[in-house]
Amino acid sequence: MPSLFVFGSINVDYVAPVSRLPGPGETIKTDRYEALPGGKGANQALAAARNGAATTMVGAVGDDGLDGVALSRLDEAGVSLAAIRRVSGASGLAMIAVDAAGENQIIVVAGANAHAMASDLPAMALGSVLVTQNEVDWAQTAAAHAAAQAARATVVHNAAPAHELETADCARIDVLVVNEHELAEASLGGGAAPDASDADRAAGLLVRGVGAVLLTLGAKGAILYEAGKAPIVVPAAKTTVIDTTGAGDGFVGAFAAALAHDPSAPLADHVAVANAYAARVCAVMGAQTPLA
Ligand code: RIB
Repeated sequence: MPSLFVFGSINVDYVAPVSRLPGPGETIKTDRYEALPGGKGANQALAAARNGAATTMVGAVGDDGLDGVALSRLDEAGVSLAAIRRVSGASGLAMIAVDAAGENQIIVVAGANAHAMASDLPAMALGSVLVTQNEVDWAQTAAAHAAAQAARATVVHNAAPAHELETADCARIDVLVVNEHELAEASLGGGAAPDASDADRAAGLLVRGVGAVLLTLGAKGAILYEAGKAPIVVPAAKTTVIDTTGAGDGFVGAFAAALAHDPSAPLADHVAVANAYAARVCAVMGAQTPLA
């Protein structure tokens, strides 16, 4: 079984369904909330494990008693938790409002995620896949990428939340997964024009060393950009949207698992797997809820 490592955030999500998302300065009332496991890193690790990868989660939780909730689904899914760092203080948490159409607003409090250390990553090797995002300290994420590159492992980086990429960063990323806003932000380090098209921005990142750019477009699917090839549009799978929280993370984790399983297959094949899994995540409330 291929080895997949996720270095990143682990949160408890406080999820409140609302009739509509509040505007600036506005208060919206609701009658319930749930505390659910979340965090972009943990959501991606769960998706990878659910898609058949032998997955190790590397990150940090606090000693506030919330680790049980935060890690419950990963544990059930057989994700290795041996490299989880336990620190004093609060675990990461997210406050999430989800409206009737399944759209959300999220505020993330880093908590223990600020103590995630790349040095906690077990040894990687050729054939390993490392998955990262931007909810832990960037210097640690960059160190994780460097370790993966030295081990000839494959790096899948999800630049969420948005983060500008220097050229040295680009050269360590095999597949960059971004939405349109994140693509624009990631391109800034290369001096992309403010009105550049998505295709131009992706091309700029490929020139700067990224192996492939995977642009996610929600219900419109995803576009795969690879150097020297025409972009490939992979349509989204149909779904009933209850809550989009974690759908992008599910996409990343499922894509990485498919890549780890069959590294020589066309990337577009893995994108189709990822779209199908993301659609299933959208159909339930919460990022790690068991899927129908
Ligand atoms: O991408 C969704 C995730 O973002 C949530 O689970 C929340 O914890 C935040 O990290």
